[in-house]
Amino acid sequence: MIASPSLSADAIQSTLATTHLGRRLFVYDQVLSTNIEAMALAQAGAEHGTVVVADCQTAGRGRLTRQWYSPPGVNIYCSIIIGSQRSLPNMSGWLSWIPLASALATAEAVQAISPIALDIKWPNDLVVGNRKAGGILCESLQTPAHGLIVIIGIGLNVNLPQEFLPHDLRETATSLLAILKSPLDRNRVLAQLLNELEPVIDELTAQGADRLRHAYLRRCSTLGKQVRVIMGNGEEVIGMAESISLDGALQLSRLHSSVREGASGRIEIRAADVIHLR
Ligand code: BTN
Repeated sequence: MIASPSLSADAIQSTLATTHLGRRLFVYDQVLSTNIEAMALAQAGAEHGTVVVADCQTAGRGRLTRQWYSPPGVNIYCSIIIGSQRSLPNMSGWLSWIPLASALATAEAVQAISPIALDIKWPNDLVVGNRKAGGILCESLQTPAHGLIVIIGIGLNVNLPQEFLPHDLRETATSLLAILKSPLDRNRVLAQLLNELEPVIDELTAQGADRLRHAYLRRCSTLGKQVRVIMGNGEEVIGMAESISLDGALQLSRLHSSVREGASGRIEIRAADVIHLR
């Protein structure tokens, strides 16, 4: 593996410029999943902004009940506890934009400290071309102390050499190292990630998703592509990805599907696996 500094709370916090995110920070060598750790902390009363980071996960979780490849020493696995406000006028819009806004903040963080411009494959895959460098898994839970909490789980392949990927991921995954050809300090990447994420979440909470949606549209490589969408129930749609709705759904004009389109003539997809066709 490529030598780069190990993760440490001091090194992360030395370039942290946030008010809340990462001020309470747990750094572990190994956990099952940082999301599981963060959920336990949230249940025990941990406040908004608490962050769990691990060097390695033994049961890293991906979207759609997949596993997340989480070897030691090379990548970022972190989970951030986000508190909700009971008075939010559009709670469901807020909830559905958190994963998309987190992908945007992650891409902006990488671009702030490197020449790499990650695209976002709807809803929140961080990609370069057809290869995935990172992903986001948000999970929400009710806690006794703080009501509804969202856990933002971010996995980013940072210093992972392409040849260390398992065979089944070799054609579809990548890392910042594979693109940049030199390692990045994970502590710096993580601090920048939190520096970008905090204002994005604050904006989403205070002003809604209007501006963030435009920034997301500019980064979203799914738009304008012909896509195959595979829903949780196995149903498939082939369509043209036209836009992202105000509540974060992917809007498709139908090419082939058994799903009924809405009044706009478009199908809206809220949770699914998307394959870019062309
Ligand atoms: C995806 O499938 O694209 C989402 C991957 C999310 C992985 C991250 S790594 C940190 C956090 N802990 C987990 O178990 N999963 C998320």
